[in-house]
Parts: sequence; C-alpha cells; structure tokens
Amino acid sequence: MKKILALVCALAMLSCMFVTAQAEDLLKIGYVQVGHESDWRMANTQNYFDVFTKEAGFELELIDCDNDHALQLAKVREFINKDFDYIVIDPIQEAGWDDVLKEVQEAGIPCIIADRAVAASDELYTTAVGTDMTAEGVTAGKWLEEYLAGKEVKILVIEGSTGSSAAIGRAEGFNQVAADHPEWTIVDSQDGDFTQNGGQAVMESFIKTYGADGFDVVVCHNDNEAYGAMDAMDAAGIKYGVGEKIIISFDATNEGLTRTLAGKILCNVECNPIQAVIVMNVIKALQAGEEVAKFTLVPDEGFCAPGIESAIVTTMSEEVMARRAY
Ligand code: AHR
Repeated sequence: MKKILALVCALAMLSCMFVTAQAEDLLKIGYVQVGHESDWRMANTQNYFDVFTKEAGFELELIDCDNDHALQLAKVREFINKDFDYIVIDPIQEAGWDDVLKEVQEAGIPCIIADRAVAASDELYTTAVGTDMTAEGVTAGKWLEEYLAGKEVKILVIEGSTGSSAAIGRAEGFNQVAADHPEWTIVDSQDGDFTQNGGQAVMESFIKTYGADGFDVVVCHNDNEAYGAMDAMDAAGIKYGVGEKIIISFDATNEGLTRTLAGKILCNVECNPIQAVIVMNVIKALQAGEEVAKFTLVPDEGFCAPGIESAIVTTMSEEVMARRAY
C-alpha cells in the first residue's frame, strides 16, 4: 500500500512539474487594446484571442483601455514590471509615446505597434503592423471623384477620435484628393469618436445647423459612426443612397458591407481587423532570431454599392459578401 501511495505522489509531483514547465514555456504577450468602441475593434480583439492561444504557445493578457491614453501608458509600464516577453501597443492616440517606448526598450522587451501608428521615431520600437490609413482616405476621395465626375457638392465629415492615427490618416488622404476639387466644399468636420452614439450626435447637430439642403455627402470615419448618422437622417426624414445623400464609410465590417450591398452606404473602404496572425508571425520570426521589417502592411480594399461601376473599388454583390472573412 505504501509503495502505491509513494508512486501516486511521485506521479502527481511529476505532472505538477510538467504543467509548470509548460506554463513557463508560454510566451507572455501584453496587449494594450484601444477599447471596445466599434464593431471593428470587437472583431480585432476576438482575432487576438483566437490566435494567441495557450495551444499556440502564448499567454495573452489583453487590456481594454477604454480610449484612455493615460491608462494605456500605465498598463505598458505594468507589463514592463511583470517582465512580459513581448508588448503589443495599439495606440489610442498618435502623440505622447516617446517616454514609455524608451522604458520598454531599456527593459529589453521587444515592442510591436499594431493597427494604429505612433508619432515617434521608429528606432523606439521593434516593428509595426497595420493598415495604411492615409491610403484609405485617398481611396474614399478617389471613389467620390470618379462617382461625382465634376459635380458640385457640399461635404460633411464625421471624424474618428481626435489625435488617433486612423482619424488623422483618413482625413489627410481624403483632403489630398479634395484639394484638387474646387467644386467640393467641406462644410464642417466634427469628432464622432468612432462610435454609433457619437456619429448620431454629430449628425443630429449637423442637420440642426445646416438643414437637409446644406449637404450632399457625409464622410464617416468608420461604420459605427455611419450607422449613427443614418439613424439621425432617418429620424429627420432625410434619404440616402443612389440619387440621394451620399454616405461614405470606412472599415467594411460585415454589417457595414451589408448596408453597402443594400445601397445605403455608397462607398465603404476596408480597414482589415484580422491582424493577429501577422503579429504572431512577426513574434515567431523574432524568436527565431530573424530580421523583421520595420513595418508590415495589412492589405485592404474598397467597395461600392451594386449598380455603380468603379475602377477604384469593388462593386458589392452576394458573391463578394460570401467570401468576406469578417
Ligand atoms: O484603428 C482602427 C479604427 O479604430 C477603426 O476604423 C475603427 O472602427 C476603430 O475604432
């Protein structure tokens, strides 16, 4: 009996050691996520949970920073103190990163900037992965140029969160194209914070200030803002779609593209949230001691409503919808 007990104890100790060894083998990844402001963000967060699993060799701590820059900085410092293996930052705002990036570097922890960009020297971080937000703005502008073919229009813009590289890039790209069009007037541009409520509030105030005749085009920096703007227009009895007010959006989420397919959002420029595998491959390359590029582009494309022919973006159809991953 004693022998059996000793054997059971020995086996239990062995399995304990094995589990500990396994846990120690996992790479600890700290990810400071922007928040939960949009459908895009939720898809991006889910994608990280799907990819950075224990089975794949990772222990992921993802913090929802609820659009709070100070919290994001504090959480990065916490990851440094806990000696994480990698720190991934999705920066809420572009500015204000130099000090904390230096601290990560001094701690010797590789740092990856994901999705959005920082306004800091690229020597302060290991590598970046993300979409080209300025190119997204250019695509939206070029599509409008093609669609309007010289027509005079008044444009309202519902911006993404002030100071974020997503809002800055999309505005810059769109404005580059608008600069070639004296027949376009950008009447107003306000922050809708990338949320549906924000988009609705800004659109309600635009309608109050400019009335239904005061605009022809609404550019929304993401799909959720576009849903809010549509709610506000519905409530005011303002029609949108082909031959009515033109809505342009960014993200091309499933719901956003459903509304493009329905001819409500006339142009929807993708910002691809499926980025975790790319980040994981970068980490694997770094683990293997390989050189990685300073920036890895996540490719995306644009879409327009059925019945609109375009050389700039893809015309939506059921077939296009069926091949979408999110
Ligand atoms: O950084 C990506 C942007 O942030 C997406 O366009 C938007 O939906 C999100 O909140």
